[in-house]
Amino acid sequence: MAADDKNMAKVASRFVCQECGAVLPKWMGQCDVCRGWNCIVEEATPEVRSSKSPDVPDDFFVSLSDDIADTGFSVSRRHLTNSEEFNRVLGGGFVDGSVVLLGGPPGIGKSTLLLQILSDISGIENYAYISAEESVKQVMLRANRLGIDNNRLKIASSSDVHQIIKSVSNLKHNSIVIVDSIQTISSELIQSPPGSISQVRHCTQELVNLAKNNDIIVTIVGHITKDGAIAGPKTLEHMVDCVLHFEGDKSYDYRILRGEKNRYGPTDEIGVFSMTGNGLEEVRNPSAAFLSDHSDDVSGVAVFSGIEGTRPILSEIQALVSHTNLALPRRASVGFDANRLSMIVAVLTTRCKINFSNKDVFLNVAGGLKITEPAADLAVVAAIISATFQRPLPKQSVFFGEVSLSGEIRQSHLSFQRVKEAQKLGFTSIFCSHKTDDFEKASELNIRKIKSIRDVLLLRN
Ligand code: TYD
Ligand code: MG
Repeated sequence: MAADDKNMAKVASRFVCQECGAVLPKWMGQCDVCRGWNCIVEEATPEVRSSKSPDVPDDFFVSLSDDIADTGFSVSRRHLTNSEEFNRVLGGGFVDGSVVLLGGPPGIGKSTLLLQILSDISGIENYAYISAEESVKQVMLRANRLGIDNNRLKIASSSDVHQIIKSVSNLKHNSIVIVDSIQTISSELIQSPPGSISQVRHCTQELVNLAKNNDIIVTIVGHITKDGAIAGPKTLEHMVDCVLHFEGDKSYDYRILRGEKNRYGPTDEIGVFSMTGNGLEEVRNPSAAFLSDHSDDVSGVAVFSGIEGTRPILSEIQALVSHTNLALPRRASVGFDANRLSMIVAVLTTRCKINFSNKDVFLNVAGGLKITEPAADLAVVAAIISATFQRPLPKQSVFFGEVSLSGEIRQSHLSFQRVKEAQKLGFTSIFCSHKTDDFEKASELNIRKIKSIRDVLLLRN
């Protein structure tokens, strides 16, 4: 036995950082490149193929003036799903030969969303859903429960990327293949376990080749790490055509689909869904969904008219200011950038002479929405001032505008859309920057243009 061990050829190995993909000569506790801890794993070195001179086929280059039909590809068409929200985020449906990566935390509803999408897509003839996480029976049970009635849909369970590719290699354009998930499939050519950086990268490359060579749509599910990035190197996101994130607070029913990267459309659109007993339903009027039914005499609540992509969405910003004996008072926020909150508190301290040194400030965006727009600053200021002085804000009012360090309110883009949405939902007073352009047809609205955050101090119900 010992002799056999001695005779066995030693497998060459290398050390790969699972966070950034760096290859290191020896094991280390901390990666030299990305400074991440405990992320170096020993992996077998992949075989190096001999670099003999490659053959170049005659049709290597295709001229732009050639008829696209002669190149063997279908004329790229958009394939619309039955979900308007999903189509909007994709920029108008799936494109033939594209690879879409859908990331999101576990249990958020990625498998449910994709299975529901498969119920009908315009122009698609072959549908395949391959799960490496669930058995065929489990997927079928779920599909039945979701009421998916598509007899062209084929379901399989496999975790071998080569088996997956072979099983669909006879498919050509007008086909969609869903692989759930990239972290649970593997290739026997790579010795590291499923989910490791080499496996994820290799399997993604194989699936991208499948999509491009056969002109079929491939959609891959990806898990995310605790910081919200798709597990695997950033290169994974470079390899695919479209990266979507499915997010939301699990304690709420709302789920938001966001485009992070899209080679065929915009990336700033969002799709809003709600998780119900019968799967995901589209939320057609997100503004109404994210506003809670608070009464007008509550302090610390301001409504913000925001823009997500091209669509205005109203949301409610809640603030709480409480006395503290801590030497370092707390500034905590949910759904809003904590650094920006600290900045706004500092601006209020300096420009409005409000003493926050013995006060904790908490901020929450209702409904689990995440706001990244600077235009939300004015609503945050209004909510904090209202909470500090326990004074409700004027009834039926909406706020938008960016706050500069001098305390001045700056103009926000797409002001007219913001005002129109607020008007549609029955709001009557709009507070915005003094630099905002005048609106026509807004005579029945009370538009209050304000110059500085000091003007907010004077507001009362
Ligand atoms: P799932 O799609 O399995 O999540 P993921 O693939 O992102 O891990 O969704 C799981 C959650 O969705 C689960 O917690 C239950 C909930 N759910 C419903 O509320 N209603 C439904 O009809 C379905 C199918 C799931
Ligand atoms: Mg799943």
